[in-house]
Amino acid sequence: MIETLHSTAAEAQARLAEVADLDALAQLDVEFLGKKSALTLAKRQLGSLAPEQRRTAGQALNQIRAEVEGAVGAARERLARAALSERLEAERLDLTEFRGTARRGSLHLVTQARDRLEDVFVGMGFSVAEGPEVESAWYNFEALNIPEWHPARGSFDTIFVNLGAPEEVMLRSHTSPVQIRTMEKQQPPIYIVAPGRTFRTDTADATHLPAFNQIEGLVVDRGITMGDLAGTIDEFVRTFFGGDVKSRLRPSYFPFTEPSAEFDISRADGTWLELGGCGMVHPNVLRNCGIDPDEWQGFAFGFGIDRLAVMRHELDDIRELVNNDVRFLRQF
Ligand code: DAH
Repeated sequence: MIETLHSTAAEAQARLAEVADLDALAQLDVEFLGKKSALTLAKRQLGSLAPEQRRTAGQALNQIRAEVEGAVGAARERLARAALSERLEAERLDLTEFRGTARRGSLHLVTQARDRLEDVFVGMGFSVAEGPEVESAWYNFEALNIPEWHPARGSFDTIFVNLGAPEEVMLRSHTSPVQIRTMEKQQPPIYIVAPGRTFRTDTADATHLPAFNQIEGLVVDRGITMGDLAGTIDEFVRTFFGGDVKSRLRPSYFPFTEPSAEFDISRADGTWLELGGCGMVHPNVLRNCGIDPDEWQGFAFGFGIDRLAVMRHELDDIRELVNNDVRFLRQF
């Protein structure tokens, strides 16, 4: 009996070495190791042998079974490796290959929006300023007239950075700190826009990203009025969106502006869409930067660049902007 089993095992090994797919492998597994296989049947017959014979036969059976099982495992591994390299080959991208349909990369949607915003504002006489993404409480809050006890501080959902520093360090929750940095460095007249990344503890969903982009505007000059603010917003909206889009201001509240407003843009269906915040720079903010509010006045505004891109391209989900799915990116 053991003799026969040895030759069955040899046959099993030979056939397993050749097996070409997982289905065939499963069949061989059943044939040589399953309930009706010669090996299993032989094991059931052990009981009828004398104890001494039973031991030797049992050991032989176990050894044969182990060999066949080993061969099944090896075949399975070989097939898995083959499937993997087949897949890699099929999904291989030849980056040096040029086909008629190959296309160049393009700027990301948000970069495109940011570039256009800069162009429009530069065309209106603004310069572009920048500030750091990691800020102290002074720039992100205090100098902007948001002291420690101010309720607005909580509404910014700030991400703090633990550097063990004596002062509070945070990822800037808006681009408004660039107002302060600019006024500290530069005497009026000031006409700047400051685009850049901003951060909040928001969980990403269809309308929020925890890391997003804003653009800030700041004008400080003599005799600046709310009329200049409204006119600037209107001019920007017209240039950016096209001739028939209008803007309007709605009263609102921000600690760093007084009076404050939110501005909306008109949509084709007659409704209004909120774009951002704005207002006349609060005298405290000017004073914090060593600028005399009796001599100089200013306005400021800020809004989200990612949201603007979402609006312009009518995206359903702002997260598309960061998924980096080439099929999405290729459309722009
Ligand atoms: N920093 C404000 C925010 O992130 C937006 C804003 C409102 C900016 C009014 C301004 C402004 O410059 O005047 O919610």
